[in-house]
Amino acid sequence: MAAGDPIEANLSSKTYVVTGSNTGIGKEIARGLNRLGARVILACRNQTKAAAAKDDIVSSTGNDAVELIALDQGDPSSVKAFAAEVAQRHDQLDGLVNNAGCWLTTYELDPQGIERTFTVNTLGYWRLTNALEPLLIEGGGGRVVNVASEMAYGLQADDLGYQRRRWSGPAAYAQSKQGNRMLSWVRAERLRDKGVTVNALHPGVVSTEIARNGRGIVGGVSRVYFKVFGLTPTMGADTALWLAASPEAEGHTGKFWVKRRQKRRRFHDMERNRALWKQLESLG
Ligand SMILES: NC(=O)c1ccc[n+]([C@@H]2O[C@H](COP(=O)([O-])OP(=O)(O)OC[C@H]3O[C@@H](n4cnc5c(N)ncnc54)[C@H](OP(=O)(O)O)[C@@H]3O)[C@@H](O)[C@H]2O)c1
Repeated sequence: MAAGDPIEANLSSKTYVVTGSNTGIGKEIARGLNRLGARVILACRNQTKAAAAKDDIVSSTGNDAVELIALDQGDPSSVKAFAAEVAQRHDQLDGLVNNAGCWLTTYELDPQGIERTFTVNTLGYWRLTNALEPLLIEGGGGRVVNVASEMAYGLQADDLGYQRRRWSGPAAYAQSKQGNRMLSWVRAERLRDKGVTVNALHPGVVSTEIARNGRGIVGGVSRVYFKVFGLTPTMGADTALWLAASPEAEGHTGKFWVKRRQKRRRFHDMERNRALWKQLESLG
């Protein structure tokens, strides 16, 4: 099946979490799942924007099975509280789409000394998936879908606070997206016998709010670039939606996808990947 073709699936008994689903790609992934019948939990930090997204999704799909639970992916206590609330409401989950992400324009450290882009984009996915793993295993066949990026390079695990390198927004973003993939391959390996699949994907260059914080000439140029050359958010959501919902994607795990096609799996040094996982365990 080609990218953009309708997905044949009935998700009416299934429940998914989609992070960062108040706008952009995440909102269209949530809409697509909900249209196929799923109950969708919108995991967003801004509840006003999340409520507006819920109204918009429900009015377009006619399926009112949309829930809101607050999540700040950059805050470990919020991740914990979010997972506890999901567990309170649901006995199992059928899928988790880790999508929320940021591209920062200022250097910032979290309280543990980790650069903020990595905290949100990499640690955020990792912590949330750890917290929801029991519900996904309970779901028997749960799917973890990690929205990553082709823009992935330069990860230095011994300098996650950028103490020994010059920081830039693009470099920090690329590092965080390399981390997404390295950890996806480890999680796929760890969950292989538990019936949960883990895949990562690049959504394409998509016209969303991702470049919203860009300042000056570079910021202006990137916003115009995304607007002029970017795919629509619906097109950008296609591969993630397919991985989360399609019977065709069933059983695939530990793979990287673009336009519903498997691509070469970079960052496959598993010793290095497992070492990164272990390092993150010490951060909690
Ligand atoms: N657009 C592209 O060309 C492109 C290319 C490759 C990969 N991606 C990836 O696609 C994913 C979605 O991005 P997008 O393009 O749809 O961007 P977007 O329009 O900026 O949406 C990003 C979403 O993430 C949420 N978010 C950011 N930080 C968060 C946090 N700390 N806690 C909870 N939610 C948070 C945002 O919430 P707020 O509205 O509250 O900020 C928003 O809902 C990201 O992982 C991005 O890296 C995008």
